[in-house]
Amino acid sequence: MAQAEIGVIGLAVMGANLALNIAEKGFPVAVYNRTAETTARFHANAGELAGRVTPCATLAEFVAAIRPPRPVIIMVKAGDPVDQQIALLRPLLSAGDIIIDAGNANFRDTIRRFAELDGSGLTFIGMGVSGGEEGARHGPSIMVGGAAQSYARVEKVLTAIAAKYRGEACSAWLGPGGAGHFVKTVHNGIEYADMQMIAEIYGLLRDGLGFGAKEIGSIFGCWNEGRLNSYLIEITAAVLAAGDARTGRPMVDVILDRAGQKGTGRWAVIEAQMMGVPATAIEAAVAARSLSAMKDEREGAEALYGANSLRLDAGDRTKFVGELELALLAGKVAAYAQGFAVMATASKEFSWNLPMATIARIWRAGCIIRSQFLDTIASAFQSPAQPANLLVAPQFVTLMKEAHGPLRHVVSRSTLAGAPVPALAAALAYFDSYRQGRGTANLIQAQRDFFGAHGFEREGEPGTFHGPWGNPPSA
Ligand SMILES: NC(=O)c1ccc[n+]([C@@H]2O[C@H](COP(=O)([O-])OP(=O)(O)OC[C@H]3O[C@@H](n4cnc5c(N)ncnc54)[C@H](OP(=O)(O)O)[C@@H]3O)[C@@H](O)[C@H]2O)c1
Repeated sequence: MAQAEIGVIGLAVMGANLALNIAEKGFPVAVYNRTAETTARFHANAGELAGRVTPCATLAEFVAAIRPPRPVIIMVKAGDPVDQQIALLRPLLSAGDIIIDAGNANFRDTIRRFAELDGSGLTFIGMGVSGGEEGARHGPSIMVGGAAQSYARVEKVLTAIAAKYRGEACSAWLGPGGAGHFVKTVHNGIEYADMQMIAEIYGLLRDGLGFGAKEIGSIFGCWNEGRLNSYLIEITAAVLAAGDARTGRPMVDVILDRAGQKGTGRWAVIEAQMMGVPATAIEAAVAARSLSAMKDEREGAEALYGANSLRLDAGDRTKFVGELELALLAGKVAAYAQGFAVMATASKEFSWNLPMATIARIWRAGCIIRSQFLDTIASAFQSPAQPANLLVAPQFVTLMKEAHGPLRHVVSRSTLAGAPVPALAAALAYFDSYRQGRGTANLIQAQRDFFGAHGFEREGEPGTFHGPWGNPPSA
């Protein structure tokens, strides 16, 4: 067999499917897994693609099987296992070879790994891969960070295996260093917000309107035909339609309301905070998952304070369902605006020069947040006058003018009834704060100067000023 075009280390869900995807697109691929039986089993189950797969029992065999300069995708458990794998691999590689970490790395680890390989002759790529198992097998969205010349060596393979949106590959080099993993982190933060807002709307349909899972599924199914059309809305309709084989009840009704998280949403929020960029809808979504985990405490508190009283009259229903659709759309615009603002600031801070329109384009297929909505975002960033924020992009101003009223109504109604809608409420508060020309920070500045002599700016006059704070106004 010809030498492999690329190698994959780690044959759990993601690595195995990525390797099959590579082989299916016609590229010979070498594979290795720490536990050798997994490699053998993978090869035995590769079916007609087995001929393009070289299973390797040792790392030395694996390295020898790849055409130099060797691109090696590491798809093992994120964190220390990646460093351990790099340490074992490094002595076997030669100058020019490319180590590609395709797992969910924290971009700060990616930057450190770059630094550690500096001067070794090896190059490094930090590559965000989205789309889960299905994406890895049939076309993920691929966010690449690293040296542009290393990307040139793997571009053909990555373009071939990536998802396609109207024929365009959802894979791109986004910038040097940790750019790819940073963008993947923000992608996941946006994903958290998107999912949380959908769950909040589901809660209002369930508790406020008393709809069953099947009816709610149909509503999401209808919305998927309109402006909310997206993978997450589509799968929401599908999961709500599914039944439990054991009880016959809707599957969603037998699932405990305790959500897990692996940390990428939290990383997005931490980085936003570090840079001073408001990402409140994403933050609310991460906090909501943490609160969901406190099931016993929540039940105890409900016994003390009583359950929410969200009940809507039958007459209201059709109107309210229409408002929910628009509220979700408005909340989504605000959450995406926050995610893109986080990336814009990071781009400046790390000198990445992130291509915003390209990022929106490579998220249109293959990843969890894929939607037609991203096409509109891409067009907003494609215009010569780059918007400072998606909320002021002409493509979204008209939409927000139509949808912020319904969002306001949904949030107020839920809030008055005690039904939590933290991400939708955060999105609304962000929108209202962002479009408030004169805010209230003048008082904050006065307080800061009062207790700490921090100084303040005066309207229409340059410079820094201080109180006096004992004088009453004379005018
Ligand atoms: N699953 C998803 O939907 C998804 C989606 C996007 C991104 N990701 C990311 O993709 C990466 C892989 O995910 P996954 O779900 O396929 O696998 P995983 O469960 O995160 O990790 C299992 C793989 O890592 C290997 N491994 C663990 N510790 C190791 C070590 N110290 N040295 C070498 N290999 C080690 C395992 O080898 P053994 O067989 O020997 O134990 C196995 O191949 C992760 O970073 C994950 O966060 C996952």
